[in-house]
Amino acid sequence: MRGILRIYKDPEVLALHVADQLMELIAQSHGEKFNMAISGGSTPNLLFSTLAKKYADSVLWEKTHFWWVDERMVPARDPESNFGTAQKLLFSLIEIPEDNIHIIHGEENPQQESENYARQIQEELPVNEGWPLFDLILLGMGEDGHTASIFPDHIELMQSTQVCEVAHHPLTNQARISLTGIVLNNATRVWFLVTGAEKAGRLAEINSGSEKSSLYPASCINPVHGELSWFLDKQAARLLL
Ligand code: 6PG
Repeated sequence: MRGILRIYKDPEVLALHVADQLMELIAQSHGEKFNMAISGGSTPNLLFSTLAKKYADSVLWEKTHFWWVDERMVPARDPESNFGTAQKLLFSLIEIPEDNIHIIHGEENPQQESENYARQIQEELPVNEGWPLFDLILLGMGEDGHTASIFPDHIELMQSTQVCEVAHHPLTNQARISLTGIVLNNATRVWFLVTGAEKAGRLAEINSGSEKSSLYPASCINPVHGELSWFLDKQAARLLL
């Protein structure tokens, strides 16, 4: 597996370390803004609640700008909403300016909202070699090896010339907006957070570098200039050790 492997006893210990390392990173960042994109799904929830518990009053939220790696095209009140979950577990519990939260409006027309979100990113983020530059992107990995909302059946989104695109979940056909591969690989840092025994097989396949593993979008994450880290719990890493 490319990048730095960091393995922790369990999801709680992992979340605590990631929270501490994230705040350290923001504290050390020189820019006026720290632009980070977060993924959805269940894995980040422990990180959100750990950040809210330990760093609710941090002044660092003043400079931290949250973007989304992807969003399900549902209203914010829908339990499927990545923004809605982060709002409940984190933003509603910390001192962060509303303008620092750059949501994807899940209730809008997907194509129009994708263009709107891409425009916002291009207006507000610094650029590196023609592409928006995130200071940090937090990714998860599905059991099928997807990351963001780039699924194996549309792995071409890893090479899209758009900043973000409309995608669909292969089983539910749920519409999503997702950052695309070139943006993900342009970040200064990419941190995968992967926990649970059910991810171990896919991680081992990706680690093997087999021909088949290149079919998984998560295996195509390889920051061009940046640093890649995998934060795993022991269960997810059990076939790597
Ligand atoms: C999403 C995520 C997606 C997620 C993986 C892992 O919106 O669902 O961005 O890429 O990271 O599906 O999900 P879990 O953390 O729930 O396993």
